[in-house]
Amino acid sequence: MGASILGEPLPFEEKIIIKGWPKNSTLEDYKKLHRESLEKFEEFWASVARELEWLREFSKVYERGDYPHVYRWFPGGLTNISYLALDRHVKGARKNKVAYIWEGEPVDEKGAPREVRKLTYYDLWREVNRVAYILSRMFNLKKGDKIAIYLPMIPELPIFMLAAARLGVIFTVVFAGFTAENLATRINDLGATLLVTADGFYRRGKIVRLKDVADKAVEMSPGVRNVIVVRRLGIDVNMVEGRDYWLEELMEGVPSNAYVDPVPVESEHTLYVLYTSGTTGKPKGIIHDHGGYAVLLHATMKWVFDIRDDDVYYCTADIGWVTGHSYIVFGPLIEGATIVMYEGAPDYPGPDRWWSIVERYGVTVLYTTPTAVRMLMRFGDMWVKKHDRSTLRLIHSVGEPINPSAWRWLYEVVGESRCPVGSTWWMTETGGILISIAPGLALIPIKPGANGLPLPGIEAEVVDDEGKPVEPGMKGFLVITRPWPGMPAPPTGMWGDPERYEKVYWSRIPGFFYTGDYAIKDSDGYIWVLGRADEVLKVAGHRIGTYELESVLVSHPAVSEAAVVGAPDPVKGEVPVAYVVLKEGQTPTSEMAEQLKKWVREKYGPIATPQNVFFVSKLPKTRSGKIMRRLLVAILSNKPLGDVTTLEDEAAVDEAKKAYEELSRELKK
Ligand code: WTA
Repeated sequence: MGASILGEPLPFEEKIIIKGWPKNSTLEDYKKLHRESLEKFEEFWASVARELEWLREFSKVYERGDYPHVYRWFPGGLTNISYLALDRHVKGARKNKVAYIWEGEPVDEKGAPREVRKLTYYDLWREVNRVAYILSRMFNLKKGDKIAIYLPMIPELPIFMLAAARLGVIFTVVFAGFTAENLATRINDLGATLLVTADGFYRRGKIVRLKDVADKAVEMSPGVRNVIVVRRLGIDVNMVEGRDYWLEELMEGVPSNAYVDPVPVESEHTLYVLYTSGTTGKPKGIIHDHGGYAVLLHATMKWVFDIRDDDVYYCTADIGWVTGHSYIVFGPLIEGATIVMYEGAPDYPGPDRWWSIVERYGVTVLYTTPTAVRMLMRFGDMWVKKHDRSTLRLIHSVGEPINPSAWRWLYEVVGESRCPVGSTWWMTETGGILISIAPGLALIPIKPGANGLPLPGIEAEVVDDEGKPVEPGMKGFLVITRPWPGMPAPPTGMWGDPERYEKVYWSRIPGFFYTGDYAIKDSDGYIWVLGRADEVLKVAGHRIGTYELESVLVSHPAVSEAAVVGAPDPVKGEVPVAYVVLKEGQTPTSEMAEQLKKWVREKYGPIATPQNVFFVSKLPKTRSGKIMRRLLVAILSNKPLGDVTTLEDEAAVDEAKKAYEELSRELKK
């Protein structure tokens, strides 16, 4: 077959059964359960939705909105996700249960964390009310207004997200590793009038001066009237009189018992817009709502994470990405879980930081990423074994395919062959997990590296170009064949651009939601997502559009044309590599290559720095002017052209061959 992840063959036939797991089931049982959920689709989702509290009961399960593929989920219902995440618990027995255990990065001489903050549900609720008071009374923000949040991994990040949600204020969170340009693009596309940021934060033992970056972004964002600054480091930063305010100073004007009613919003009211990379143009602002999104998160926290009241749940992602939105903030809070949140790098001060966290707080459920696993594996098992992991009972990964050997390491070394280990498939657009094993519901045999079956109420298929299911074991496109709660929400699915939403997701394979992923469904029905089928890279799990990097490169005064492709990388999955045509009179030197790498770093962010910059005299293109990307990838991996040409749209075989040979020759020089 030749199917592999990072060059490792896929063990289609291997089946691991976790002994002693209370909810084991056979594949047949699971398939039956799944089939029934689809047969009674609406009743099924209605009953899941009723497990949550509604401020007003919904009148329907779902209906079409103003555009063909934008659906309202639970219309007629009134809710507020901040009510679900906080007030519900504060009224009951979880009032003084710990919601967040937060650990800052710096450590003392003995390697112990210098700062640990524990916030109970009641503490968190009070903080959120105070911040909601500031946003509404001092900055006059109301339902439907927009703000941007550019904060590192500190408790104020979820606090501001929840406070905005409480008011029905729409927010966008921008990853703190992004540059001023990227921040400004998002602020302006959303139309945010207020920015929340911090003076800085710690990363791998150094400080990052975040407010300086925010200042540059605000210069490019005419709509921003105010900036609220959280003091994390206590460093001196520029504060603009009448525009910028320290959070701690604003807090002085807030009554200590401040309470702000959660605004009852329509189920489909926009909660947030999160920008993600596509194949062309500027990043896409994916819209998620309060109601449908909360229902999917509630369901997946139960089914996939089997979350219980005595769990200590640790997700290692950054809240700047969708994983953190759904599975550090809203999902686990809706379930009233105790959540571990860590500010810094996994290998600081040593490669055992995460395992020390697991030991320190008795983590039971761990959610992490393949890249981090591959990175930590390299340091050796002793870093893991130094720490007690006997509390761990369940492990999942997300963000990219997990190669079978990384899976085995998580299973055998980290989880001591005791914990189910899953690879949960989903994307920014889906809002939550759609394809995964579901140990909280019925644990089927696990296949190392596979994602599992679609969850109940979710229908997915692997199809060819025409939308016909491909034979088991054959590679095809992964599509979602029915709407689901948590899908891109009204009014337009994609912020301000319903046409692009329709085009990108619903017209590639008509009638189905096109994920952009290649996948294989094996003869047992397990789905194995192999990677992106489009021009989107997954660098260390971060989703980066090649088009965006090409735009950054051609904005450099020396560059005439650029093509960026992904090269396989044993740790990061793939890394960007750039082919660059320089302008007349420019010399292709190694200094120039370094300059261009630095340029991408500064304009886009360190996560996208190209590993290599190759100078070429021209880019191989098809007759219609499309860059032959697969050819560029084949050259990188030293693969013969072979079947590559057949994959290339419109490229004549001999044309591609010629280009391949010319380019290989040029690069060997
Ligand atoms: C990839 C991250 C294989 C996939 C939540 C998808 C995965 C993209 C997995 C979305 C997995 C995510 N196995 N591939 N378990 N999880 N992906 O929007 O290519 O950052 O399309 O969302 O990540 O990336 P995004």
